[in-house]
Amino acid sequence: MGARAATRPPGVDVGDEDRNGDASAMTNPLRNGLIEDRTGDACAVVIFGASGDLTRRKLMPALYNLAVSRSLPSGFAVVGVARREKTHDQFRAEMKEGVGTFSRRKPVDAALWADFERGISYVAGTFSSQKTYEDLRAHLEALDAERGTRGNRLYYLAVPPSEFSAILSGLKSAGLVQPPSAAREGGPWTRAVVEKPFGHDLASARALNDGVAASFDESQVFRIDHYLGKETVQNLLVFRFANSLFEPLWNREHVDHVQITVAEDIGIEGRGKFYEATGVTRDIVQNHLMQLLCLTAMEPPISLHADAVRDEKVKVLRSMRAMERSLVQENVVRGQYGRGSTRGDEAIAYREEPDVAKDSRVETYVAMRTFVDNWRWSGVPFYVRAGKRLARRVTEIAVQFKKVPPTLFRAPDGGITPNVLAMRIQPDEGIALRFTTKEPGQHTVLRDVAMDFRYGSAFGSNTPEAYERLLLDSMRGDATLFTRRDEVEEQWSFIDRVFDAWRAEANAPPPVYSSGSWGPDQADDLLARDGRRWRKP
Ligand code: BG6
Repeated sequence: MGARAATRPPGVDVGDEDRNGDASAMTNPLRNGLIEDRTGDACAVVIFGASGDLTRRKLMPALYNLAVSRSLPSGFAVVGVARREKTHDQFRAEMKEGVGTFSRRKPVDAALWADFERGISYVAGTFSSQKTYEDLRAHLEALDAERGTRGNRLYYLAVPPSEFSAILSGLKSAGLVQPPSAAREGGPWTRAVVEKPFGHDLASARALNDGVAASFDESQVFRIDHYLGKETVQNLLVFRFANSLFEPLWNREHVDHVQITVAEDIGIEGRGKFYEATGVTRDIVQNHLMQLLCLTAMEPPISLHADAVRDEKVKVLRSMRAMERSLVQENVVRGQYGRGSTRGDEAIAYREEPDVAKDSRVETYVAMRTFVDNWRWSGVPFYVRAGKRLARRVTEIAVQFKKVPPTLFRAPDGGITPNVLAMRIQPDEGIALRFTTKEPGQHTVLRDVAMDFRYGSAFGSNTPEAYERLLLDSMRGDATLFTRRDEVEEQWSFIDRVFDAWRAEANAPPPVYSSGSWGPDQADDLLARDGRRWRKP
């Protein structure tokens, strides 16, 4: 279609009633326009786990990019907290290297960095020692005076979940946590951002949630699912509810089925220990993929307020047909990658990866046939799949519409290709609509063609990364793009049943698929039984 982005109208202030329970939260970004127009509240961002990969690769580059787009508040500081002793300057140098390597804006602007790094500092300490939090308190109070951070704190837990509760209770005992009422009365706010994996199953997720709730109110907790920060994922609600064309068709009357694919061509990238304890179902399906399903299937929320959106997602999760043991056998296919090739290189099998058991039964691929048993979607299958070492890296949601009656045209394979709307989340972000046309010529020959919208050509390619958006939203107190406690627990309760069934058949190793293929043949059979096929995205 080659459309160009229209000039954006000025932002609309949605008023105080649309804020997420604390008076410092700003207007809702979905209504208010692009990221560059918005700045966070004055605050100190405190990163626990500051020497880890996430800080170097994602968090600091994202904060730097926010500095470039002038989205950071004038009163701003970043404090890294980790075990190792190091000086502020050492920490700044490490962060500069990380930003230089991983930022989407390169090279690093020297003058801007010099200004930005004045706000970066470091506190060494173990998370189990109360002294760490006492040191941190003194440091933060000094920053309030020097940098105008106004007592507002965003604690970012870039650490394994086993550390969450010690850190949060350490902060609380040191008087570093304000109740939400403080912010409502115009005082400082406190928020905690927590990273996935948020639990291993329902019981552990509940225990983690309880641990967090002992020190923080739910309105102060921001659980990251970085897929929600992707532009194309945010666009799902805009596409569905800001266009009158598709929504009337978005239901069981018109939709034949939905396919959601989260395919990666990489393997486990040296994370053998993590993967052996996790598998793709916990790593991708429980969170990213189920979020995509929710945004595709949910009803229009009553507003764009964080809780209104999350209420609708929770309803979808509650409507998902529970995977009883017998249903898992029929509807779920596992796989594990064997040798093969990716991007032209030979690839080793999962069981040959470092830190992976030679007889591992962990799945690196899963496909499911699921149903959302509510009024809108009754009887419409949602086929979902996720896997490592597949043929290509692609995440997409494809809505296939019903066939027309076979009365007018004769097509060679006995049917006209149904319309498909494919929303490409990444890469080559865009939306494609496939429909049937007459091929030019003397005869009526039908041909399947596509109408393509590409983000790159419409908006340019330098879009903000997920972490930029999520960090800024957490500084602003907007929890729309973060998962709520009940949402995470509903996701686990669906996934737990799948694992129950797999445990019951403990001796069956997952079928092996070749690296670089589209997964095990059994996944094709899952759709073939319904007379359907996976798309080759
Ligand atoms: C993470 C998973 O949550 O998402 C990784 O732990 C996966 O295994 C990654 O590779 C995929 O994210 P993205 O943004 O590259 O699609």
